[in-house]
Amino acid sequence: MLERTEILIPVGGFLTPTEPVHPLVEGPWQDCLGDLAQGRRVLLVGERRVVDAHDLEVDIILAGGERQKSLEAATQLARDLVVSGIDRNHLLVAIGGGATTDLVGFVASVTLRGIPWLPIPTTTLAMVDASIGGKTAVNLPEGKNLVGSFHQPEGVIVDRRLLTSLPHARRMEGLIELVKTALCHGALGEKVLAAGSVEELEALLFHGAQVKLDLVSRDPLDKGPRQALNLGHTVGHALEALFMPRLSHGEAVAIGLVPVLRMGLGDGAQPWLEALQRVGLPLKPPNEVDRDQLLAFMQRDKKGGKMVVPRPGYSVELWSDAEAILEYIESEAFVDTPPTIA
Ligand SMILES: NC(=O)c1ccc[n+]([C@@H]2O[C@H](COP(=O)([O-])OP(=O)(O)OC[C@H]3O[C@@H](n4cnc5c(N)ncnc54)[C@H](O)[C@@H]3O)[C@@H](O)[C@H]2O)c1
Repeated sequence: MLERTEILIPVGGFLTPTEPVHPLVEGPWQDCLGDLAQGRRVLLVGERRVVDAHDLEVDIILAGGERQKSLEAATQLARDLVVSGIDRNHLLVAIGGGATTDLVGFVASVTLRGIPWLPIPTTTLAMVDASIGGKTAVNLPEGKNLVGSFHQPEGVIVDRRLLTSLPHARRMEGLIELVKTALCHGALGEKVLAAGSVEELEALLFHGAQVKLDLVSRDPLDKGPRQALNLGHTVGHALEALFMPRLSHGEAVAIGLVPVLRMGLGDGAQPWLEALQRVGLPLKPPNEVDRDQLLAFMQRDKKGGKMVVPRPGYSVELWSDAEAILEYIESEAFVDTPPTIA
């Protein structure tokens, strides 16, 4: 029997609107950056694939990708920034996927006790999720995002031209986070469920980013409604840590959403499972998943083994007892054949 420890407030409903914690703008990044930089010197850090694909000129080039999210890479970047003469009057700009914006944001938060920064996300996942809200982190061998900080950026620039070089499967990963965000927000949720193709889903990315920004603005330090955005991430982070680089963040979250949808929504999970299927990423974990290791990584995840579960009416609850959750996952969700689209 699963124990429910805490009920979170409905996230899509009646909360008082607040000022956004940072501007979220869409357009060619070179045009938008001038306004946000407000005359400060800009230091551009970009990841190799994006710099090469879009022929960009940047000050520092990073490898990009999950492997670079380490304390070692953070130290190297901090040293490179200091050598390049950065000070607190600079604006540090990160061009890359979520792994890059997490790393650069973290380094910005600790170098010289805090440098202003701004991400220009280059993956769908970073556009709808990772670059918004000021959570920064690097990984430890013991798990994902275990060393990090809150350091709000000065803004986020969404420039869809940067997505043209992104492989199709990667492009789909952001749509998983979009479905996750939609589980917390009625208006977005209805549009996501009505979207009949990946193109229609992709057209909702900026709306998804606005919904995330809205949630973050109500709860910048992740103590209340923002925790809803961890849907699918307890299992997802554990799988990602276990199977990196074979499983990406988006793929792991897709798999992690399946059990919580079934646990929290019962028959009501079906349209959401179909939305996930429409995106086309695998929804089952690798066969050789080790139960004890998965449980250990789930418990180390920052919620202490608690899991965010969607409930009817675009609200969420926090459920505890990771062992019981794991049993549920093994018995009902991972073993079941995923739904087929009618
Ligand atoms: N801070 C947050 O709130 C938050 C939220 C969600 C996810 N995340 C983090 O985001 C990371 C995942 O981000 P991601 O999905 O963007 O993956 P990623 O940053 O690892 O990028 C995936 C791959 O795509 C490449 N790439 C990036 N942009 C490209 C482009 N335009 N063209 C071609 N290749 C490109 C990268 O080099 C990398 O190889 C994870 O580390 C996750 O923990 C953070």
